[in-house]
Amino acid sequence: MAYSEIDPRIFNQNPDSTWINLGLWTGNCSYEKACERLAESVGEMVQMKASSSVLDVGCGNGDSLLLWKRMFQAGHICGVNISPTEVAAARSLTSHDEDIVVCKGDARSISSLVDISSFSHVVCVDCAYHFDTRKEFLEKLFETKKTRARLGVADLVLSCKWEQGLENSRSLWDIFLRSPYRAVILKALSVCAGIPFANLVYGPAGLEKFFDCEKRSSDFECRVVTDRVLLPFSSHLLAKECGSWAALFQVRATGLFLRIVAWLGCVDFVLYSCSIKEEGKG
Ligand SMILES: C[S@@+](CC[C@H](N)C(=O)[O-])C[C@H]1O[C@@H](n2cnc3c(N)ncnc32)[C@H](O)[C@@H]1O
Repeated sequence: MAYSEIDPRIFNQNPDSTWINLGLWTGNCSYEKACERLAESVGEMVQMKASSSVLDVGCGNGDSLLLWKRMFQAGHICGVNISPTEVAAARSLTSHDEDIVVCKGDARSISSLVDISSFSHVVCVDCAYHFDTRKEFLEKLFETKKTRARLGVADLVLSCKWEQGLENSRSLWDIFLRSPYRAVILKALSVCAGIPFANLVYGPAGLEKFFDCEKRSSDFECRVVTDRVLLPFSSHLLAKECGSWAALFQVRATGLFLRIVAWLGCVDFVLYSCSIKEEGKG
């Protein structure tokens, strides 16, 4: 399922900002501040620091690439993104900094795009649920030998509540047999939001199982932050002023859609981190 590009002017208040994530909201903060906070939380979770070499998969228009440098003094930074328009925007935004490079490519081919073992940190801010599929991307990362990297992800997954009721059902049909209502809601969410269905069938427990399996990683940590993401972002969209009727329609429809998704409780927004196993360990 192809990712549809988002015009950053639709979400941002500040015309110089090109963030396109859902944000991690505190009080009445601005959209830009919420986006920075989300990325910063991922950086903190993986203990990014001065001299870290960072691989940012799904780097959008490049705002996060500047943030790793500004907030954590990261050394070498490489952004990867599938969209040619966003790659061009990210290159233009970071052109003054020779420590930052941006590659065009699909997260699923990450191991042929870059040498993963040359990075100390791999981060994905609000994008892994778009990868077709997330599991395929993670498998590629964990195939890598001789890496000591830490992985940090801000991601949308099946909610803890729904995951308990579905007990390892992974296909639409399996889910339908357990709960036709949940199968229909998840399929509708997949189609309306352009998220591959396979990324919506497991939540935090399923992720933990993936990392545990074959002893990929033993230090998986996950924080559920749904309340600070879905409803506040929806409120931002429902109140946002827009220059045209088309943009107004788009933000209000998206805002309303997210409100319904939050009310249904079918997905959780989570921050998770773990180490990507070293060769010969675990
Ligand atoms: C919601 S945006 C988040 C962008 C950015 N991380 C941010 O915080 O502003 C999702 C991003 O994932 C990228 N993306 C989607 N599918 C991808 C794929 N298969 N490989 C690489 N990037 C992908 C999109 O181009 C988009 O930039």
